[in-house]
Amino acid sequence: MSTLQEKINQTIVDVIDFPKEGIVYKDITPLFLNPDLSDEIVDAFVEKAKGKVDIVCGIESRGFLYGIQIAQKLKVPFVLIRKAGKLPPPTISQSYDLEYGQATIEVNSNYIKDGARVLIHDDVLATGGTAEACAKLVEKCGGKTTQFSFIVDLTFLNGKDKLTSFTTDIITLIE
Ligand code: PRP
Ligand code: MG
Repeated sequence: MSTLQEKINQTIVDVIDFPKEGIVYKDITPLFLNPDLSDEIVDAFVEKAKGKVDIVCGIESRGFLYGIQIAQKLKVPFVLIRKAGKLPPPTISQSYDLEYGQATIEVNSNYIKDGARVLIHDDVLATGGTAEACAKLVEKCGGKTTQFSFIVDLTFLNGKDKLTSFTTDIITLIE
């Protein structure tokens, strides 16, 4: 019997030179072709979050896919964190630096209640810039990020370093 980690590793596809030359893109979409494996992944995240979070925030767009399933199994609200200009008002924004330029993410300013314990979920942790901006957004809303979870951590980019000031509870299934 393979472990969950082995099954994920065997399923994710490395795409060379996408979206640019020199980049190895981790294609996680084959995971969604396998409902049993997807169930196992969601259950693994749920097990780690049980009793610890009041809200799950999913990061657009691939963080929505398992994010909402995790929230439903935990029986807690799911909140969408979206790229700028996609959500209707009232919203709160947070900008962050990319390799070239800036990006902005937004959330509905009424959805995260004061003192709420928040799980921020996404598919891949790369530089950590996106997840860090989400945690700042949660903070602006009065919530507290108490857990991050990702399917993949690209450890050579040291993304975790940007997140540990919010919480050290960072769940990653494969590295
Ligand atoms: C990818 C990935 C994470 C983010 C990680 O999303 O899904 O959300 O980048 O990068 P970082 O840790 O360096 O911030 P992308 O922006 O490609 O969009 P998508 O999820 O909509 O495909
Ligand atoms: Mg993404």
